[in-house]
Amino acid sequence: MTEMITVKELNKSFGEVRAVRGISFSVAQGEIFGFLGPNGAGKTTTISMLSGLLRPDSGSITIDGMDMASRGRDIRRIMGVIPQEIALYDELSGRDNLLFWGGLYGLAGGDLRDQVDRALELVELTDRAKDAVRTYSGGMKRRINLCAGLVHSPKIILLDEPTLGIDPQARIRILEVVKGLASEGRTVIYTTHYLEEAEQLCDRIAIIDEGTVHASGTLAELVELVGGKVMVSVTGDFSADEAKQVLGEAEFDHISDGELRVKLLDRDQTGRLLGGLFSAGLHVDGVAIREPSLESVFLQVTGRELRD
Ligand SMILES: Nc1ncnc2c1ncn2[C@@H]1O[C@H](COP(=O)(O)OP(=O)(O)OP(=O)(O)O)[C@@H](O)[C@H]1O
Ligand SMILES: [Mg+2]
Repeated sequence: MTEMITVKELNKSFGEVRAVRGISFSVAQGEIFGFLGPNGAGKTTTISMLSGLLRPDSGSITIDGMDMASRGRDIRRIMGVIPQEIALYDELSGRDNLLFWGGLYGLAGGDLRDQVDRALELVELTDRAKDAVRTYSGGMKRRINLCAGLVHSPKIILLDEPTLGIDPQARIRILEVVKGLASEGRTVIYTTHYLEEAEQLCDRIAIIDEGTVHASGTLAELVELVGGKVMVSVTGDFSADEAKQVLGEAEFDHISDGELRVKLLDRDQTGRLLGGLFSAGLHVDGVAIREPSLESVFLQVTGRELRD
């Protein structure tokens, strides 16, 4: 398989904030690589370095065999970037926005018009192409924003939370478009904080938090990390010592005063676990059971929840 994107030991700080801390990963041609992490994880900062907008403090980026530090211009020509913040001219029509972006990417004449028409069809906005973007719904703006990064038919596509704040239908359409792009052999990095998007869409996923990749792999490989076990979280009015004494032999993922997480082979063992706590007179006020999933992997590798 051809490696299209290779990132090694990237670092980027903004003053005191270490936004990206030693991130490494690689993406093969035609792959959809998910970047999954909560707000402030460092996703956009990484995307900005990959797109050549931000210069890393250290580390290297190689794209389609070219080094970003010396071949940034050539790389930008084969890359489409769909930014998190919608970058459109409100007063221009959807079509004129795309003509503008296509022109920036060096397209002209009939070629430009054909590509714009194709992009509009792809996101089903041909009917509204002549209307000013300010009259579009949020989901329509997202879809035109997506197009703006695709008009020049890039080999590599970086999407930064392209489905933020849109309705389920528009989201499904965007996910279909992204799948289609990958099936044409394009390489995609897809940034999201939605677990189910990462699960449904991505061939491989990197779990990122606090500027670090905590784990990466296919969904199956990641779930294997939790050993196919059920994770039970319990909160209540107990100390870590008390809980440990009662549940001595349990496989703890986390334990602190008032909170514990235990891995169980199956969910039927939850009753016995709680029974143990109750019969020792410990007060329990919350129980959550998670089947092995990307959510439980996220919790295990980052030590925190990622809520949709
Ligand atoms: N231009 C900047 N100046 C100062 N700090 C920044 C800048 N850009 C990002 N940061 C900080 O770097 C960290 C990572 O931010 P980043 O935007 O990469 O996160 P993210 O994963 O994209 O989050 P979100 O899901 O909210 O978009 C945050 O602490 C953020 O405040
Ligand atoms: Mg971001």
